[in-house]
Amino acid sequence: MKIISIANQKGGCGKTTTAINLASALSLNGKRVLLFDLDPQAHASLGLDIESQDSIYNVISRLTPRKLKLENIIKKVENSFDIVPSNILVGTLEQELSDEIGRELKLMEVIKPIRDQYDYVLIDCPPSLGILTINAIRVSEQLIIPVETSRFSMQGVEHLMDIVHLVKERLNHSVDCRILVTMFDSRLRHSFAMLSTFKERFNKLLFDTIVHINVKLKESAVMGKPVAFYDKYCRGSKDYYTLAKELIFEDKQTGAIDEVKQQVKKQPEIKVEKIKEKKEKIEEPVVAKEPELEKTSWKNRLEEEILDVQEDAQEIKLESKSDAKEQVKEEVVDEVEQEETAAEEQKPVEATFQPLSSRMKELVREEAKDFFRAKFSIEAPGAKSVYVTGSFNDWSLDDNCRLKNKGDGNWETEIDLKPGVYKYQFIVDGVWKEDPKNPQKERNSFGDINSLIEVK
Ligand SMILES: Nc1ncnc2c1ncn2[C@@H]1O[C@H](COP(=O)(O)OP(=O)(O)OP(=O)(O)O)[C@@H](O)[C@H]1O
Ligand SMILES: [Mg+2]
Repeated sequence: MKIISIANQKGGCGKTTTAINLASALSLNGKRVLLFDLDPQAHASLGLDIESQDSIYNVISRLTPRKLKLENIIKKVENSFDIVPSNILVGTLEQELSDEIGRELKLMEVIKPIRDQYDYVLIDCPPSLGILTINAIRVSEQLIIPVETSRFSMQGVEHLMDIVHLVKERLNHSVDCRILVTMFDSRLRHSFAMLSTFKERFNKLLFDTIVHINVKLKESAVMGKPVAFYDKYCRGSKDYYTLAKELIFEDKQTGAIDEVKQQVKKQPEIKVEKIKEKKEKIEEPVVAKEPELEKTSWKNRLEEEILDVQEDAQEIKLESKSDAKEQVKEEVVDEVEQEETAAEEQKPVEATFQPLSSRMKELVREEAKDFFRAKFSIEAPGAKSVYVTGSFNDWSLDDNCRLKNKGDGNWETEIDLKPGVYKYQFIVDGVWKEDPKNPQKERNSFGDINSLIEVK
């Protein structure tokens, strides 16, 4: 079994889309796959139309009243494609685990018993570098870092690499880091400039496969399906299928080399050259059978992009296909010119942002007038963590909704809300609780009680 984490603390760079569609493409290639949703936002679960009251929280937490084993919470998505769903309570593990010994090994302990049941386990990480992500990196052999070809992605990758080095130094665990370019927009000159910067900086760490921007990927997530079951022949489906092939191919190579290494250990007369020989033997036939895995030259790839434009142009309803084609041809012709333009782009961007930012401040000030401060408090002596969540923040969980311990068993926080009626509940050490001091309440569809607050 190979465990792969998909992580990047930058939000919205395609982690979940990659986790869902790579998992699905691997299973379509005959592999047994488990997708581990480790993000409290539960986007991977929702993107596969799986809702669950249980999650890894019930397996790891010591505070849960409903303790379960990993195998009890696994759900089937397709043939040979299973998921460990997530829900909002997974977020409370960050806090609960923070002062536990061996906190970074929790995931490893729970995954161990299912090792033989899958060929691949993919972990969809939250967009943060907390204890959950460290647990995921610690248990993984490989880390896939999806990056958009946008201005700020490079910094994020460097930061994540630092964490990987830290895990290596402190926890003595090496991870094979790979970078996947996502949401590549072949209509933009900027995308090509960024791609060549990434190539220069990360070189062999980049996957050959690039995931293009494709609206079907967005639509399929809304429909709760992997893209291959929504539109089998779209660009997004092809890209993730090719990525799965690339991964399987690389793993075959590594596996074969390891096998020979083992033999060398057992029979010292087998010389190291044998490894090379074996590698070459594997490389030749597989590449011949699977031409899409051949390393395309930079030029070939750009030519491919010109062809893709027809599809892309339809999606964004460009005025005419030939316009789009011309646009990309122009971009492809002169790589040097692209780099110069990318540098030039930096200046006008700053100039346009200046007035915008003061306008933004004005807008925020105007908006702020409409907000009123709402106080939430609850008595919870001895509790380790208390959150409030509700319809005002889409029932999400982050630091803004964490209550402060006032030291006398009372926890409180203040949140700015617009006028309206909101439903809410507290989460005390992972357990949902209505507000005992508030008589305004209603029963929700799970049979629990939501407290109600009116802001005026
Ligand atoms: N290649 C793509 N083409 C078009 N849209 C995409 C593509 N990849 C992702 N998206 C869309 O971009 C949005 C963000 O993607 P996704 O949820 O996969 O990012 P994420 O890194 O998991 O985000 P978060 O950090 O919040 O977990 C989603 O709406 C998704 O459908
Ligand atoms: Mg996500």
